[in-house]
Amino acid sequence: MESYRLYHNAKVLITGGLGFIGSNLARRLTELGARVTLVDSLIPEYGGNLFNIAGIEDLVRVNISDVRDRYSMHYLVQGQDYLFNLAGQTSHMDSMHDPFTDLDINCQSQLSILETCRKYNPNVKIVFASTRQIYGKPDYLPVDEKHPLRPTDVNGINKMAGEWYHILYNNVYGLKACALRLTNTIGPRMRIKDARQTFLGIWVRLLLEGKPLEVWGGEQLRDFTYVDDCVNAMLLAGSEEKANGRIFNLGGPSIINLKELAALLIEVHGQGEYIVREFPAERQQIDIGDYYSDFTLIRTFLGW
Ligand SMILES: NC(=O)c1ccc[n+]([C@@H]2O[C@H](COP(=O)([O-])OP(=O)(O)OC[C@H]3O[C@@H](n4cnc5c(N)ncnc54)[C@H](O)[C@@H]3O)[C@@H](O)[C@H]2O)c1
Repeated sequence: MESYRLYHNAKVLITGGLGFIGSNLARRLTELGARVTLVDSLIPEYGGNLFNIAGIEDLVRVNISDVRDRYSMHYLVQGQDYLFNLAGQTSHMDSMHDPFTDLDINCQSQLSILETCRKYNPNVKIVFASTRQIYGKPDYLPVDEKHPLRPTDVNGINKMAGEWYHILYNNVYGLKACALRLTNTIGPRMRIKDARQTFLGIWVRLLLEGKPLEVWGGEQLRDFTYVDDCVNAMLLAGSEEKANGRIFNLGGPSIINLKELAALLIEVHGQGEYIVREFPAERQQIDIGDYYSDFTLIRTFLGW
C-alpha cells in the first residue's frame, strides 16, 4: 500500500503491544520500517506475553507499564507519530465480576491517555480498538455503524465510552483519532489459555488436548476477521487523514454458526468431538445472540 510508506521511520506506540493483535501489528510495523514501542502491563490473567514478540524482540522497545499509570503514559506518548491504542481488559465475564477494574482500564485510562496526548503530543494520530460488543443484541443483521448502541455487559459500556472519548477529543480538540469496531479476530498469537479473549481460544486448546469442546447453544451466528486483515485495517485507519473522527466496523467474509464452526475445527484438526450444552445462566444474560457485521463503510471509504 502506498500510504503505508508513512510508517517508514515513524515513531509508533502500541498500548497492549504484547497482546494478540498488538504484537501482530508490531511485527508488520517493523517490516514497514517503523520505530515501535510497546507498552503492556503483562498482568498474568490478561493476553500479554513476551512470547508474542519472539523474533522481533531486538527490533522493538518494550516498556512494561500500565496505561492506568498517568506518569508512564505522559512520558511514553511524547514524540510519537502514531498511537495504536489496544490495551484493554477483554473478558466480558470478568467485567461483570469486577466492574471497577474494567472501568479503570477501558474507560478512565482511555480518557487519561487522550488528556495526555492533548497536553504532551497533540499531533499524534490515534487508532482505538473498539468492539462490536457495544451494539448489544442486534435489531437487524448485518449490523452497520448506524445500529443503536445497547451494550449487554459492563465491558461493552466501558469500551463504548472509551471509543467516544476518542471521537470527542477528535471533534473538540482537533486530536486525530478514529475507532475500529472489531469482531472476533483470529490467527497466530491468539490466546488459547482460556476463554477471556474468545471462546474459540479455549476450543482450540481443548481440541489440542484431546478433550471435547463445549458449545453453548450452538445456533448463534458469528463472523471472524483474520488478524492480518485487522492489522491492515489499523494501518489504513492510521495512515488516512480522512479516517479522523470516524468509526468503522470490521467483519469477515463468512458467517457461520457455532455448531458448524465446532464441526469445521474438528474436521480441520482431523479428530475431536463437541458437546452441545445449555448456556450457563450468567452467560445467557450477557449473550448478544446472532451477530455479523456490515463492513461496507471501511471497504468503500478506506479501501480495506
Ligand atoms: N480479539 C478480538 O476478537 C477483539 C474483538 C473486539 C475488540 N478487541 C479489542 O482489541 C484490543 C486488543 O485485543 P487482543 O485480542 O489483542 O487482546 P489481548 O488481551 O491479547 O491484548 C490486550 C493487551 O492489553 C494489555 N493490557 C491490559 N490491560 C492493560 C493495562 N492496564 N495497561 C497496559 N496494558 C494492558 C494486556 O496485557 C494485553 O497484552 C482490545 O482493546 C480489545 O478490546 C479484540
